[in-house]
Amino acid sequence: LDNGLVKTPPMGWMTWERYRCNIDCKNDPDNCISENLIKAMADKMANGGWRELGYVYLSIDDCWAKKQRDSNGKLEPDPDRFPSGIKALADYVHSRGLKLGIYSDMGNYTCGGYPGTTLDTIKIDADTFASWEVDMLKFDGCYSNDTEKAIGYPKMSSALNATGRPILYSCSWPAYEGGLPPKVNYTLLGSICNMWRNYDDIQDSWASVVKIIQWFAANQDALQPVAGPGHWNDPDMLITGDYGLSYEQSKAQLAIWAIMAAPLIMSNDLRTISEEAKDLLQNRLLIYINQDSLGIQGRQVMKVGCLSVWKRQLVNDQYAVAVLNTGDDGLPRPFSTSLGLLNITEYSAGYKLYDVFNTEYVGLFKPISPINLKINPSGVVMLFIQPATVAPHRSYF
Ligand code: GLA
Repeated sequence: LDNGLVKTPPMGWMTWERYRCNIDCKNDPDNCISENLIKAMADKMANGGWRELGYVYLSIDDCWAKKQRDSNGKLEPDPDRFPSGIKALADYVHSRGLKLGIYSDMGNYTCGGYPGTTLDTIKIDADTFASWEVDMLKFDGCYSNDTEKAIGYPKMSSALNATGRPILYSCSWPAYEGGLPPKVNYTLLGSICNMWRNYDDIQDSWASVVKIIQWFAANQDALQPVAGPGHWNDPDMLITGDYGLSYEQSKAQLAIWAIMAAPLIMSNDLRTISEEAKDLLQNRLLIYINQDSLGIQGRQVMKVGCLSVWKRQLVNDQYAVAVLNTGDDGLPRPFSTSLGLLNITEYSAGYKLYDVFNTEYVGLFKPISPINLKINPSGVVMLFIQPATVAPHRSYF
């Protein structure tokens, strides 16, 4: 969508994966969906080094609304959990240099059973969100049929545009239509949405991450070309810092999301996150790769048993390569390759290799020089590759 937003994939934080539809503020005041939770995360994003790295979208997912619209037909936040209202919350979030996201659903109800946006209420809801000075809308797709979706998603795009406020528009439409052409029209989506969920919800497990990665790899011929500046595929939230992934598995999710030019939207607890998880999410070179200005989504270029090789072309003839091991037999697997085998051969003088997660310079490699790696079980090695002739223009680590 050409609204000037997200020329590189959006980065931020979202409630859903970690906090779900927890509305029990009485017994769980620190973790229920409420203005307190959003304010706490805003403080952390502004003071914990996140904002400066690009993590600026702070997004409320489902279960924020009151169960009934008001007498004018407008959505309202739950008064107990958002007593100050969304406009005041947006002011708070903006005062921290961040952007506020909100959630609705093209349908009679949201997936969690709150009031949805019907074809009749699209305009009023778009106007309400703009009047609250919201910066992003995730528009889900429960409780509507194919026809309503086909009318509603473009209609909401126009309604948001008509507000005059730039609002990042995230469409869940493809995830409800199987995610693939010809049923999903990605040309249309690219012109009306800034990003879209293509596939199933992420859960807090390695199995879920692998399932998502394998689906995107299997369908990359259809999906890879449709991403670009202003319009991104969204394989769903980052779960680093939660309960389900080991350290190695967290690196693996991050590496593949960076190669896929995916939005980096965390769902975790920034108040209690471990230093280890924080370091991974704040890895500068990883973010540099994800945020590459060419905006070309990478691809899986090779698969041998449980090892797969992923490659993304970056600006200035740079590349990122990730070797993923989905095996679980405990043995770090050797993998030997070369830049020639990876089809990175333009510079005969060679390339400088950096290990993204070890945060170290590996050395100068010619196209024929062997590159010998060891990939930990359910883990990854990620390399940043730069023509030898190019002087580093920033500090990568
Ligand atoms: C769907 C979406 C999730 C989340 C929930 C909220 O499952 O895919 O990301 O928004 O609804 O109910």
